[in-house]
Amino acid sequence: MKNDSSNFNNYHISKPAVVVAMQGSTYGMGFAQVYDKAGFSSFSERMIPYIDQQLERLNIQPQSVLDLACGTGTAAILLAKRGLRVYGVDGSQHMLEIAKQKAAEEKVHVEFLLSDMRSFTIPEKVDLAVSLYDSLNYIVKLKELVSVFVRVREHLKENGCFMFDINTLYNMKYGWDNRFSVFWMTDDIFVIESNVHDQGRRTTTKSFTFFVKREDELFERILEEHTERGYTANEIEGALTDAGLELVSCYECFTFTKPQLEAGRIFCIGKNLP
Ligand SMILES: C[S@@+](CC[C@H](N)C(=O)[O-])C[C@H]1O[C@@H](n2cnc3c(N)ncnc32)[C@H](O)[C@@H]1O
Repeated sequence: MKNDSSNFNNYHISKPAVVVAMQGSTYGMGFAQVYDKAGFSSFSERMIPYIDQQLERLNIQPQSVLDLACGTGTAAILLAKRGLRVYGVDGSQHMLEIAKQKAAEEKVHVEFLLSDMRSFTIPEKVDLAVSLYDSLNYIVKLKELVSVFVRVREHLKENGCFMFDINTLYNMKYGWDNRFSVFWMTDDIFVIESNVHDQGRRTTTKSFTFFVKREDELFERILEEHTERGYTANEIEGALTDAGLELVSCYECFTFTKPQLEAGRIFCIGKNLP
């Protein structure tokens, strides 16, 4: 079949083939629908026991939690299942739609709010805020990261904590630098990923082309573009301080070890001191 660009959305090559070319976006509908299936939700599942250990060490028993940039709601739902009052804020309505469906299926209540993390409000101050899986790296300007931290502080009770992981500048430069990969994520999801690092902006832009097998054996193509900025531990500490939060701990993520220079992802705890 010849390539007829006027009918690109229905262009069949041969079976199995690409049948739908969705518009490139960031956390668009197609990606939201496959996010969990592709395995992206497993990161926050893994973070929950780690956060539990951190809470235990700090002797904190939160009753109310904010999951900032909650995505498809995996962590928020796990926390709500414990009887905590949970708010989930995210900037993608498609991710939130999946989160709401999952919460309904699990029969738990999470108050999900569609909002940018630089300007969100929730109806009460909480004991704990979390932001998981690179979410803060989507804030690509340092002063906007401070704005996010200010929003968080304004929604934390006195002595409330903010726990988050974040990719370092080192990871952006050396881990994700101009990498090109193609691989099967699952038996049904194939991805082409290409990274472009911008040294000046300290960002890496990941362009993903996912091919997702449908029931009729044809493949749906989903295009996504994600830009993340890397931060140094000093920049993060400075941003927390500027926002009125105190950095109480910083570790290599999933460990209790102080971050080395080559740490790719760090886990930080900021506190809203009186
Ligand atoms: C890698 S996902 C992580 C989602 C979830 N925390 C998890 O662990 O699976 C990043 C999330 O950040 C959200 N996000 C990115 N920029 C945002 C912004 N400026 N305001 C609110 N949410 C944002 C995206 O919509 C996406 O759901």
